[in-house]
This record gives sequence, structure tokens and C-alpha cells, in this order.
Amino acid sequence: MTWSWETGVDLVIVGSGVAGLTAAERAVRLGLSVAVLTKSAVDDCNTQWAQGGVAAVLPDQRDPGDSVAAHVADTLLAGAGLCEPESVGSILAAGPAALTRLRARGARFDLTERNVLARTREGGHRAARIVRAGGDATGAELERALFAAAVDAGPAVLEGHLVTEIALAGDRSVAGVRLLDQEGRPALLRAPAVLLATGGLGQAYRATSNPAVATGDGLALALRAGATASDLEFVQFHPTVLYTGPHASGRCPLITEAVRGEGAVLIDAGGAEVMDGVHELGDLAPRDVVSAAITRHVRTAPGGVDDHVFLDATGIAGFAERFPTVHAACRTAGLDPVRDPIPVAPAAHYHCGGVVTDAMGRTDVPGLYAAGEVARTGLHGANRLASNSLLEGLVAGERVAAAVAAARRPVLEPGGPAAELMVAVDDLARLRRLMSTEVMIDRSEAGLRAVESYLDGSATPLIPATRADWERAALTLAARAVVAAALHRTESRGCHTRVDFPRTDRRWRRSVAVRLDDTGRLLTDARALVGDAR
Ligand code: SIN
Repeated sequence: MTWSWETGVDLVIVGSGVAGLTAAERAVRLGLSVAVLTKSAVDDCNTQWAQGGVAAVLPDQRDPGDSVAAHVADTLLAGAGLCEPESVGSILAAGPAALTRLRARGARFDLTERNVLARTREGGHRAARIVRAGGDATGAELERALFAAAVDAGPAVLEGHLVTEIALAGDRSVAGVRLLDQEGRPALLRAPAVLLATGGLGQAYRATSNPAVATGDGLALALRAGATASDLEFVQFHPTVLYTGPHASGRCPLITEAVRGEGAVLIDAGGAEVMDGVHELGDLAPRDVVSAAITRHVRTAPGGVDDHVFLDATGIAGFAERFPTVHAACRTAGLDPVRDPIPVAPAAHYHCGGVVTDAMGRTDVPGLYAAGEVARTGLHGANRLASNSLLEGLVAGERVAAAVAAARRPVLEPGGPAAELMVAVDDLARLRRLMSTEVMIDRSEAGLRAVESYLDGSATPLIPATRADWERAALTLAARAVVAAALHRTESRGCHTRVDFPRTDRRWRRSVAVRLDDTGRLLTDARALVGDAR
């Protein structure tokens, strides 16, 4: 594959997780010149940390009675009325083939003694259809296998390159990306197509399962390029992140939901079961239900002082072998999950909304694509079903590559850098604290307005020069967008819960679209992306 800074490439891929690497390999095989740009190391991405697995119903290896239709039904139920049924059907139906291709590319999944794929359950799944690798290291194995396959195909892989702007031509279509190279020097890479596969925005919160790179970059790039985003208020909080104290911050170790899939139970300090009487699926209720139940349980605990609960996994035989990553994280924290319940609390985990795309990953900016967590395909709705995201990344990556190869737009002349006003808060720690108290579970107008006024009052104009500046600006914009969408939605649904609007309101069975206008003002607009409100 030939490329140069002068001539550019056919496709720039920003991000190197499951969606980006899948697209890279496929696009090169389809004859495109491709550059994968990542601001850090290739494996420094959310995919690397994914534990539980890939949800897919294989025709020859499934529970009796399970089917793609049943997987679709569970996804729609978890998504609380905001999934797009067509997207759900098409992505989940493509899952088994995507998994087969992945295995053909060398990914090694855990097998049973009978040499078939080992399967388990996670929250919201009514059948055992999660396949895994390395016990609880599925993401790391996908990353390894997909990177090896991509390297074999041969895209250019540029680590330490931070994309700062989607370069647009005079007609507002994509002409490439502006970036800072490894030395922090500005550069332009021309391309008629750009795929954002940058992951989410967990770092907008104080405690998160996401690595330090998850700073909302892709969402900010897309909004600034004029793309529409949607469902941004639906930030998913994982119920069981290892609790290491009230001031825990940054990436906290995940305790995969598969631990509950294997029989672990959430209990409080007094030993009472947290999920008792909350949901028919008990500890395996959808994630939004479990996270909200934990939050409310600790709030009403006698004395009202607890801020965490416990996951009792002491009944799981062979815990260390089945969950080596979780076991190691607990041991590092001085805990023994084989003997003692694990302290856990909800933390920011996954952004269900994102940049609006069609089934092929196309956004409403010609030449701009999005896939994986940064995208909003309609699969997740108001609450993502566990382990649907690695699957989505595999499917969406393939589709974007095919769409770019089919479109083959000419390389256009980029206009100059946008003269937009960038703003950023100075005090990221304060922003994260506010997001973690007011934009988590049980939001209120007063709390959301407090964050909004902090953002409005403290975000000052910035001409970003360093990676840290760009990340601060991206987090500021991402937080503004999440807060605006959360204020707009005056009901509770899925991961978006409001104490002042505690009920689900059927008139709100529609998505909130978010855009930036030319002056940098955020526009929110409720519209029926999922069909007419019923
Ligand atoms: C987990 O292993 O609990 C996380 C899986 C996911 O977020 O899909």
C-alpha cells in the first residue's frame, strides 16, 4: 500500500480498537490505502480492557430455544424503547459471521471440554450467549488478533498522532484530517474518507472503567465538523467497578458482569441481597437497573453513609482460573475474592449515544464515518445490552470499509483550519466531580443546571497547543453536549434517570439530536429518529 503526506490516503481511521482495526484490515484487502492514527499506542484503547465478551447466537452452539430473534428481543428490552429495530436486527444477525471471520483471523476463544465455545450470561441476556477469551480478557485477545491481521494487510499505523480537526472542503465534505504528529508538529493528511473509531468519554467522570485516552475526542471532532449526534444523555454506568475508596479516580478495574453470570450475588454491608425484589432477572437484570438499584440501596442504607456494596463471588469454583484479570486486580488491591466479597460501586463505562450513523457507518457529513462506541447506530438505545459492543465494532468496521470502497470519492482540496472558538475548563478535576455527582444516576434539573453553569462560566477561550489542551477541550465539549441532552429529556429512561421526572414518558420515545452551530452554540432537538412517538 502506498501513501505519503503529500498524496494522502483513501481512508484515515482515527482510533485502533475493534472497529478501527477491523475496518483497516478490510479496507486494505479491498484495495484502499489506509492510515490508522492513534494518539497513544495501538493497544491503548477501550477494547483492550473489555472483559466479558462478545454476544452472538451461533447456529450450531447455542442454548436450546435461543435465537438471533431472542437476542434482538433482549437488546430491544434493555434499550428501553429507543433502539432502532432495523439496526438491531441487521447488526445482531451479522454477529455469527463476524465472529467466524474473527476466529479465522486467529482470535482464540475459550472452549469447553467438548471443544465448543464456552458461553455465559451477562445482565439482560436471557440465554448464555456471551463468548469469551482468556477467561475475562476478551478485549485484549481481540486487539491482539485484529492488530496482527491488520499488520498482515499493511495499513500505515501512526502511533502518537493526535487528530485535532476534520479538514473540510468548500462544500463541507471531508478532505482529510489535521493532526499533531509525535513531536507535536501540526500536519495535514488528505483523504476523501475519515472513520472515527475513537471510543467514548469515560474520562469526563471521576471514576470510570475507561482508560485515560477516553476523552470524547471523536464526539468533539464530529460535532465541530457539523455532524449530528444523538442519545448523548445515555451514559452507561457499570454496576461493578472495583471500589477502592470514596476518592477513587481515573480508570478503576472492572469486575465483569460475567462474574454474576457465573452466580455471584450483590449484597450490602449487612449481607442483604441488593437485587432482592427489584427485577425478575435479579442480579442479571439489565445494567441500568442494577446500577440504579445499587445507587438507591446505598443511599437508603441504615445511617446512609455507605457508598458501595459487595459482590459475593465466593461460591464460584476455580475463580482465579475463570477470572484471572479480576482476580489479579483484587489481589493488587489487597483483596481475596475467593474468600471475601468484593467491594464494588457503579462507575462510568460506556456511552450509548454518539455520532448518528446509518447502517454503513455514514454520518451526515459526506465522507465522515463513525463506528464503535463513538457512533450511534440505533443498536443500544437508552441502555446497551452487555457485550453487544465488541460485536457492533466488528460488524460496523467491516461495513464502513465496504462503504468507503464502494463510494471512492475524489480527494478534495481542504479549506483552511476552522477559525472556531475553542473553549475548555481549567479545572478538569472539578468538572469530573460535578459530572460524577450531578450527571450520574438520579439527575435533576437543579444539578444539571449547576454543571451547565460551571461549564458556561468557567470554560474560557483556548487555542490548544498540546495533547492535554485538545483533550481538555474535547472533554469540555462532550460534557456540555451530555448535559444539554440530559436537560432536554424530561423523563427517566434506561441509563438516564431523573429524580424530578422519575417516570418513563411515552411521548419521549424519541431521540434528542445535538449539533453545534457556527458560533459554537449547542442545539438540541427532539426528533423521531426511532419513528413517531407512541
Ligand atoms: C463486562 O464484562 O461486564 C463488560 C462487558 C460490556 O461492557 O459489554
